[in-house]
Amino acid sequence: MSDVASRAFEPHWVQRPGTAVGRVHRPTTQRSALELFAEDPTRRLVAGGTDLVVELDRDSGPSVELIDVSRIDRARIVESGHLDGRAHQVLGHGVTHNQVVTTPSLVERALPLAQACLEIGSPQLRNRATIAGNLATASPANDSISALLALDAQLQLARLVDGEVAERMVGIEDFFLGVRSTVLEPGEMIASIWVPEPHEHQTGIWVKAGLRKAQAISVVHCGISLEFASSSRDSSIVSARIALGSVAPTVVLSSAAADALIGRSLNDDTIADAARAAAASVRPIDDGRATADYRSATVETVVRRALASLASEDERGRWPARIPTLGTNAPATSTSTTTSTSTSTSASVIDDQSEIRVAINGNDIAAGGAASTTLLDWLREHAGTGTKEGCAEGECGACTVMLDGAATMSCLTPAAQADGARVTTVEGLAGDAPLSVMQQSFVDNFAVQCGYCIPGFVVSATALRAEFEAPTRDEIELGLSGNLCRCTGYYAILEAVRATGGTQ
Ligand SMILES: Cc1cc2nc3c(=O)[nH]c(=O)nc-3n(C[C@H](O)[C@H](O)[C@H](O)COP(=O)(O)OP(=O)(O)OC[C@H]3O[C@@H](n4cnc5c(N)ncnc54)[C@H](O)[C@@H]3O)c2cc1C
Ligand code: FES
Ligand code: FES
Repeated sequence: MSDVASRAFEPHWVQRPGTAVGRVHRPTTQRSALELFAEDPTRRLVAGGTDLVVELDRDSGPSVELIDVSRIDRARIVESGHLDGRAHQVLGHGVTHNQVVTTPSLVERALPLAQACLEIGSPQLRNRATIAGNLATASPANDSISALLALDAQLQLARLVDGEVAERMVGIEDFFLGVRSTVLEPGEMIASIWVPEPHEHQTGIWVKAGLRKAQAISVVHCGISLEFASSSRDSSIVSARIALGSVAPTVVLSSAAADALIGRSLNDDTIADAARAAAASVRPIDDGRATADYRSATVETVVRRALASLASEDERGRWPARIPTLGTNAPATSTSTTTSTSTSTSASVIDDQSEIRVAINGNDIAAGGAASTTLLDWLREHAGTGTKEGCAEGECGACTVMLDGAATMSCLTPAAQADGARVTTVEGLAGDAPLSVMQQSFVDNFAVQCGYCIPGFVVSATALRAEFEAPTRDEIELGLSGNLCRCTGYYAILEAVRATGGTQ
């Protein structure tokens, strides 16, 4: 058999030569993670995997080992702390974007960060993707950066030096060196993110311009923090931080825009001056998403609109009353039909010879091959589920499954991270009935054309209905924004979900 003919039986060899993962280490304490990282700094940290899995798929370098930092104790804690005499919100390195948007103290005291997190990717992505991963990837398009820069956040970094954990605080302004380049030393990780709580008359906003509402990398993103002399928005501005993303190799603070505001009050003239100064202060480049000219013009528009919202005290105006997360809000068992007794293998390292154990639709399945594959491929090959692969890059939602009660893109999830977890696929939604209520509604409303996207839609829609008894049209659209239908059968799909209890 020719080489091409024999390789044709292997999955995806043309599209995805990929970097092989040899082993996945699974520390449960920060110290053990740092020991593993110090022992071999070429190992890669993995949190949600939403950037790393795509990166490894696209590259075809030598085999790597991963250190899964998602299991570290207290990684997902949000708590209060004090730094330099100022109250801060402290986010563990495992805090996800959906956690931010559903944590009242962050929505209240770090609104620009919450606004940025709500516009990152899709609900499924936000259930797993972390702020720390967003920062460490160090793309100037990464949305949380402009929010945290405007808020003047600090990062606590940690590594092992002479066998001891050495920590240092780095201002977010000093963290980025260039595109995909940071001050992180070999073996060093982001341990936590410190966000100062606002002063009495301080407020902020975050705005993004993208090519569509969801799943859109920013053309421009902008975080703003202003401190006024008094509670009146007509009073003069005491301090200003205006951070602009996707316009330079790193997200930048526009001192020219800040200078146009400080000492003045926020009115049409100062807003126009600051917006013009912001646009003049950046030198964007052309790329596939926008030309440099378009970006500069967009900076002016985005800054003007953001400042106008602040002037009219409308910074929270577009914040939704309820946010569909497809899992983060819901009780852990909300959409799962599982009654599994499955437990993790508890192995501290997983390679392709180790078995992982996953409770899939209530049945315990144990199989190997989990180090080098995604949950999507593992489910299809070892559990025989009908979970679909569309894009394999987190864009389409066809592969959506419930992972421990949260909707997840299984194509972006390293299979090793599902060890000991409960997974519900489309096959598990109906329990003992022929079809679930949602599946029947899709049939009744002719919401299926080719059907390729439908398993993912039905899983996401079921998770949404488990979260909200009667979701509004806006909530249905936001909840399903991570699912694409190439037949554009959206109206029938939205109607199918609404018919199960949603309102107009
Ligand atoms: C379809 C799609 C849409 C997206 N849309 C957006 C968007 O609209 N806006 C946006 O900003 N981003 C977007 N992203 C990017 C992505 O989801 C984020 O960057 C995500 O926050 C990364 O977090 P993670 O936990 O998944 O990181 P991972 O993929 O696990 O890791 C990313 C990188 O960070 C490193 N890392 C992880 N944790 C740590 C740590 N504690 N310390 C040091 N290094 C660490 C990893 O080694 C890796 O290099 C999108 C991605 C996809 C696939
Ligand atoms: S999002 Fe996973 S296959 Fe498209
Ligand atoms: S029904 Fe065909 S892709 Fe959606």
